[in-house]
Amino acid sequence: MGNGIAQVAARAGYDVVMRDVSVEFLERGMKAIDRNLQRDVDKERLSSDEKQVVMGRIKITTELAAFSDAAFVIEAVTENLEVKTEVFKALDRVTPANAILASNTSSISITKLGAVTKRPDKVIGMHFMNPVPVMKLVEVIRGLATSDETYERVRELSEKLGKTALDCHDSPGFVSNRVLMPMINEAIFTLHEGVATRESIDGIMKLGMNHPMGPLTLADFIGLDVCLAILNVLYEGFGDPKYRACPLLRQYVDAGWLGKKTGRGFYEYS
Ligand code: CAA
Repeated sequence: MGNGIAQVAARAGYDVVMRDVSVEFLERGMKAIDRNLQRDVDKERLSSDEKQVVMGRIKITTELAAFSDAAFVIEAVTENLEVKTEVFKALDRVTPANAILASNTSSISITKLGAVTKRPDKVIGMHFMNPVPVMKLVEVIRGLATSDETYERVRELSEKLGKTALDCHDSPGFVSNRVLMPMINEAIFTLHEGVATRESIDGIMKLGMNHPMGPLTLADFIGLDVCLAILNVLYEGFGDPKYRACPLLRQYVDAGWLGKKTGRGFYEYS
């Protein structure tokens, strides 16, 4: 999602530094941004010159030190508490003391991330939805120590990015994934129990509930490893068996069938 966030920020006029662990990942991200902006050029919503200006606002780097003068950092690393904790500790060291550190986490506690920094009042959740350039929501999560001022700055930034910010308190899965993931998990159970085919399950939810895509397709699109990680956070956070992940989901993740990104999940992708 990092490249989607970088794209909307650059499109809104911000100078962006996009950092990843390898140049290969960064180049892949820049290609995705180029493709998305080209779609806007083709649809005459952006001129070629404007596209070049937007692309020119994004600098890529593998160095965290590049954030030494950042006003705002949005972290979008893998959905793993240990990895995010290390990133937040490092960001706390390298960024100016007044910089806001936001996480695009889909379920990890903002309070925990804030607690590993010396500025928990400036740590906040900024949960974008995929595909970031299209989806209007930013779910804003206030950790226990997040200040009102930080929340206001994030709300203003979200608006400047063309998004609607809706806030909630720090709680496992926040609102979005506490509601979405049990539905996806239940769809996987219906497939696992042979209640219906993947096409029927998705078709029933698409045509019957007017969802833009069925829950199995959406799970593939999100990433089955991400769905499993979020369900585990809900299960452990609430200690309630209703959030237990379907064994079929676990098997798919064990097999490396992670959805669209690996070419196979509940569906096959070429
Ligand atoms: N990047 C950028 N733009 C994209 C895109 C992408 N990956 N995919 C589609 N679009 C754009 C298209 O260019 C098109 O734009 P215009 O209408 O301006 O021309 C528009 O989106 C619609 O695209 P399509 O007509 O090709 O296809 P569609 O009508 O099926 O829409 C969709 C595609 C917007 C992805 C739609 O299927 C949808 O809304 N799906 C559900 C998305 C969703 O639920 N996201 C949340 C996932 S959960 C999450 O992200 C967070 C988490 O914590 C797990």
